[in-house]
Amino acid sequence: MEEGFRLFPEQASTIAPRVDALYTFLLCVSGFFTVSIFIAIVYLAIKYRHGRQKDQPHPEPEQLWMLEIVWIVIPLALTMVMFVWGAVLYFEIRTMPEDAIELQVVGKQWMWKIYHPQGRSEINELHIPVGRPVRLKMISEDVIHSFYVPVFRVKMDVLPGRYTAMWFEATKPGEYDLFCAEYCGTEHANMSGRVYAMTPADYAEWLQGAPSEAPQTAGGKLFAQFRCQTCHHDESELRSPRLHGIFNTAVALADGRTVQADDSYLRESIVNPMAKVAAGFQPVMPAYQGQLSEEQLLLIIEYIKSLPRRGAMNDST
Ligand code: CUA
Repeated sequence: MEEGFRLFPEQASTIAPRVDALYTFLLCVSGFFTVSIFIAIVYLAIKYRHGRQKDQPHPEPEQLWMLEIVWIVIPLALTMVMFVWGAVLYFEIRTMPEDAIELQVVGKQWMWKIYHPQGRSEINELHIPVGRPVRLKMISEDVIHSFYVPVFRVKMDVLPGRYTAMWFEATKPGEYDLFCAEYCGTEHANMSGRVYAMTPADYAEWLQGAPSEAPQTAGGKLFAQFRCQTCHHDESELRSPRLHGIFNTAVALADGRTVQADDSYLRESIVNPMAKVAAGFQPVMPAYQGQLSEEQLLLIIEYIKSLPRRGAMNDST
């Protein structure tokens, strides 16, 4: 059963059977019309071949309304089914579940580095629990890569300078392929790895398996090392925006716009602080472009996200 001919790779995520169903439908429709057209070509080529008497008279063309309506309505209906079905599935794949485990992925020539929220990190391997949605927040250190797990039917570009995300929920424990699906230089073909889908208990055990530091703790050390707290300290409100509780809030900018303080905004404000200066502050922060690796930026952002909001207890009332 495992070996032999397979039209599609194994299905190991919640979305995989649904992607395959759509593809099967597309294949059947395309196959039906391809075969019909070829049969018609061969049949008509023989029937009206050169020299046959049949092709001599040229009658006036008739207006066949019924035929015209049929070949407009049927293709329209079929393509609308493809459109709606594909759009629904696309939105499902692109809508990140709230309760997902978030892993951080850095792609670089030519490896994948992955951070787990509890601190364990790995290279060219991805350990995940089955039965839980997993979200990947991804960025590239250099050129465009693409994170691709065929058995989960998910693939997403990993870009320099911008976070992208994807999610999946594994359904079957097992060991699967992980590929880079965007040509990224000499070793592109070797930029692959293994995905280990584990039972939740095995995953929990695996997380404990190596000494590790939570990303926000490591980020806090970098925050101190780069002297960020000289300006962004607890009491700061004059020289620099308060970072406590800033994540996912709306930030008013000096130019009158408002942005959401998401991962991308935090990252941009570190590497290029002049791009979106918060209202009420002088543009005095130095740019850290080129001084911090994407991994360090991920860790610092995790630290900023972990800072408790002041008066968080009052807010909840
Ligand atoms: Cu990375 Cu191809």
